[in-house]
This record gives sequence, structure tokens and C-alpha cells, in this order.
Amino acid sequence: MSVVRAFEMSPMVRLRTLAVAAALATLGLGAAQAAEGGPVPPREKWTFGGVFGTFDRAQLQRGFKVYREVCSNCHQLRIPFRTLAQKGGPEFAVAQVTQLASEYKLQDGPNEAGDMFERPARPADFIPWAFANENAAASANGGKAPPALQVIAKARSYERGFPLFLVDAIPFLQYQEQGPDYIHALLNGYEDPPEGFKVPDSGYYNKYYPGHVIAMPKPINDGQVEYPKGQDGKPVVPETVEQYSHDIAAFLMWSAEPHLEARKRLGFIVLIFLGVFAYLLHYVKKKVWADVGGEAEGLPGTAPLGPTR
Ligand code: HEC
Repeated sequence: MSVVRAFEMSPMVRLRTLAVAAALATLGLGAAQAAEGGPVPPREKWTFGGVFGTFDRAQLQRGFKVYREVCSNCHQLRIPFRTLAQKGGPEFAVAQVTQLASEYKLQDGPNEAGDMFERPARPADFIPWAFANENAAASANGGKAPPALQVIAKARSYERGFPLFLVDAIPFLQYQEQGPDYIHALLNGYEDPPEGFKVPDSGYYNKYYPGHVIAMPKPINDGQVEYPKGQDGKPVVPETVEQYSHDIAAFLMWSAEPHLEARKRLGFIVLIFLGVFAYLLHYVKKKVWADVGGEAEGLPGTAPLGPTR
């Protein structure tokens, strides 16, 4: 419809036409932005999503195994060992965590003679990093230090664009799993660059990484990490990149928000409380004003209980 014709219409119709046109334009704009920034990571299913979300313990334990055997070769995870036994997390047994910590050596000191010494780690210690410092990590990785992963699942997010960002403005419906979606997509996003795209020597092409050139080589492949076996001798879940990336993403979501379960539980209790409270308020208001209403309708009058008018 041409602009000229729009002005020949009655004011009401004109207003409506303009509103529809504006909405369509916004939609078009949203789609254009998403295309420019590369594909939006596909939305995955997570046990910890939604109002009643909880972590899957077995998944968190597998995720930690992936971290330990693969990601920890480059990345740091600044959390104390003991949190791995904490409620709401992977919930390893305390003895398991003590054993795990003792397999790491770290430098302590000085002792009475003033010397630094090595000792096995304890549950209260932070998980040590494979590199002595950032510079060592960067020089081993083509000049870019691998970021610490403990809060990466919260640090990576993206706009969902119109119209879904309207839904995200509503606190309880807000989608909060963009981080894990991104980690899953990133680990599955290595592919050949499109024709004409030049990848520098120190980088790798990844469909989901902003700018597409990432300093991290494809870190994990099918069959690389051994998973717990069921009674039939087969792994309980597939040993594939698809599964590994779900498990490590869930684990990193826990490390970024160790109290997620408690928060969601509390949120739900608060909702119930507000519901009961709203009902009580309504009921009390009705009770207090009951006689005032009666008088107005000409019923046998008693002295008004409510505020004086
Ligand atoms: C060979 C070393 C190496 C291994 C192994 C490795 N990474 Fe990385 N990773 C890197 C480097 C280097 C970067 C920085 C990339 C950049 O800035 O271009 C990085 C970046 C990342 C990022 C951040 C991407 C962003 O948006 O900034 C995530 C998430 C990540 N790695 C996850 C993992 C996970 C999960 C694993 C284990 C499955 C893993 N990495 C294993 C080297 C590694």
C-alpha cells in the first residue's frame, strides 16, 4: 500500500495501517540483525530450565569428567574441590572428592625453613590450572589465553530478537539457558569455512563463534571420553560430541550458578506466598467494607466498620 493512499483514509484506519506497518518493519529489522551476527544457537532441552528446573546429577558428574579429561588441558575452572560434593551440584561423595583432590599437586609454603614445597591438594583448595599463568596459557594457544570457565555459562548470552525478547521481559517466563545453548552450539559448530572465507593460521572456523574465527581448535570428538557403563556393558548415554557438549554445558551452568536449584525453589515458594497473601487481602477488604456496601444498598443499616467517609 502506498503512502499516498494511506493519507486518503479515515484517521482511524490510517492509524491502524501505520501501526501494522511499524510492527512489520520491526519484525523485518529483527530478522536482519539475527542474520548479521551469525546464526543464533539452537535452543536445547535442559533439565534445569523453567520454574521447576533441577540439575541431573549423573549429567553433572559426566560433565565434570569431560572438563577434567579434555577442557582442563587448557582452561581453568576456579572453584574449590569441595563444592563438587555440595548439595545441588554433582554431589560426588566426600571421600571421592578428597581422593580426587589428592591426585593434584600444588605449591604451598613457605615452611619453617622458608622454602616453598609441594603437597597434595585438599578439598578446600581451588582446582589447580594446567598453566602457571595467563601468559603461559596464551603463548601455548596462538596468543589467546583460554578464558576461565567457572562463569562462562552466564557470561555468554545473546538477544533473542523481536518478538521473543518481549517474553523475556516477563520474570517467570524469562529464558535463561542461552549460555548452555551457546556452549553446546560452539562445540558442535566446527565446520569448513564457506568459499572465499579466509581463516588465519592461528584460528579455526566456527559457525557460532562471533566473527567465526576462534583460537580454540575443535576440542572434543566422538568416543574421546569414556562414560559409565550400564549392566549390558554399553555406555548409559552415547559417547558422542552431541552428548558430551550437553553434559559439559550443564556442568558449566552449575559452576556458574551453584545455587540455581535453591533459587528456583525459593522463587516458587514466594509465588505461593504472594498468591495466599493476595487472597487474604481481598478477603479482609471484603469483610471490612461489607457493612458499608450494605448500607448503600438500603439494607438494614449498622454502624459502618470501614473508614469514615
Ligand atoms: C587446546 C586448548 C583448548 C581446549 C582443550 C579447550 N579449549 Fe576452549 N578455548 C581455548 C582457547 C585458546 C580459547 C579462546 C578462543 C578465542 O579467544 O578465540 C577458548 C575459548 C573457549 C570458550 C569461549 C568462547 C567465547 O565465546 O569466547 C568456551 C566456552 C570454551 N573454550 C569451552 C571449552 C570447552 C567446554 C572445552 C572442553 C570440551 C574446551 N573449551 C577445551 C582453548 C581450548
